Amino acid sequence: MSTETRAPSAPTVLSGAFPQDSRVSPRGRLEVGGCDAIELAREHGTPVYVVAEHDLRTRARAFVRAGVRSGHENFQVAFAAKAFPCTAVLRLFAEQGLSCDVASGGELHMALRAGLAPERILLHGNAKTEAELRMALEQGVGLVVIDNFAEIDRWERLLAGADRVQDVLIRVTPDVRGDTHDHISTGQADSKFGFAMAEAPEAIARIGQIAGLHLLGLHAHIGSQLLKLDPFRREIAQLAGLGDFPVWDLGGGLGVRYTADQPEPPSIDAYVDTLIAGAAEHGMGPGSGRRLLVEPGRVLCANACVTLYTVQSLKRNVSHWVAVDGGMSDNLRPMLYGARYEAHVADRLGGADRCVLAGMHCESGDVIVREALLDDPRPGDVIAVPATGAYGYAMASNYNGVPRPPVVFCGDGSARVVVRRETFEDLTARDAG
Ligand code: LLP
Repeated sequence: MSTETRAPSAPTVLSGAFPQDSRVSPRGRLEVGGCDAIELAREHGTPVYVVAEHDLRTRARAFVRAGVRSGHENFQVAFAAKAFPCTAVLRLFAEQGLSCDVASGGELHMALRAGLAPERILLHGNAKTEAELRMALEQGVGLVVIDNFAEIDRWERLLAGADRVQDVLIRVTPDVRGDTHDHISTGQADSKFGFAMAEAPEAIARIGQIAGLHLLGLHAHIGSQLLKLDPFRREIAQLAGLGDFPVWDLGGGLGVRYTADQPEPPSIDAYVDTLIAGAAEHGMGPGSGRRLLVEPGRVLCANACVTLYTVQSLKRNVSHWVAVDGGMSDNLRPMLYGARYEAHVADRLGGADRCVLAGMHCESGDVIVREALLDDPRPGDVIAVPATGAYGYAMASNYNGVPRPPVVFCGDGSARVVVRRETFEDLTARDAG
């Protein structure tokens, strides 16, 4: 191994991609929630999602406090369950007073299992099935966000003769483009989500004719991992042009830090201030009596989690390959969006050996970090990849027969498993016949 390129001294401060509740111990080892990363890897195996549970709470509180500080009497925060659809995470946010947005019957099931009061749940989806609509109605879901005309028809049939009323919002596509990857941009006119601006008046009128549907307001979500706040103001202006309603749901989308060298994401305070100032310009601000909803996912959980892996093999050809025991089955984001992450040897943080941190899957594209800077990585080393809390566990798979990793909550120096590792038996448990 080349030593001359190694960093002269390992950092004692972690990058902003790591949980706030993490540090480099005096021994030079990563600690998350007061727990030593090497010991966590030893005890729980790798790969493992290590979550600093106080971080989840801190960020939830930051949202709630920002709302209170703004003076808006009816500012409501709904965690977008899709970002980290795990009962323990949903329960923790519910305990902090957050509502929950779900995108399917399965997420609705998890939110209910986590103890969320049904009236604090919103159901989304651009292709909801009749079974999902029925489930929402039967469970008493607080708000259903209607996406398309076929869904209005379906609701009409479902509610015919029923003595029930469902509160709903209409999702519109505000024709606002945020600066993000195409796959996670949703506000542009050519989107599969919501009603086009021009169709919204007709949708509003049709819902008004259905006795069992009670239209409370409008919803939009313009995209995800947005690092600029301006598009949110344009979104609000567009929505406001469609009428005056008691409820406005502005979606999620605030971006986070994945690597030290990316642009600084706006703070939760700045984001909430921008939304509330924008809302105030259009009569939905403090004192208006309007209910303002946001649906953050990523920003509540991405930076709370670090994935730990173990180095299995090294290879030098054109590149210096470092292969670990996980990859696209626990974090699909690099492959799907070219997402960039940083990585460190958990007991030799920092480093200057330029490596390709590769996964164990049978695809050349299974690379976790294309340009990792590691300190002399060797087989058996524990590798820490921060900022994996959003859409990592959520999009995990069993590709190549890999059992999905456990989720371990850490705080105040103790660790507890909140989702166990899948077993080989789990892989065959659904076999029928
Ligand atoms: N509300 C709605 C209606 C959404 O569709 C989403 C995310 C959110 C809220 C939460 O957005 P966030 O605050 O997390 O940006 N798998 C992708 C992200 C997909 C986002 C889908 N919708 C990724 O890993 O980047």
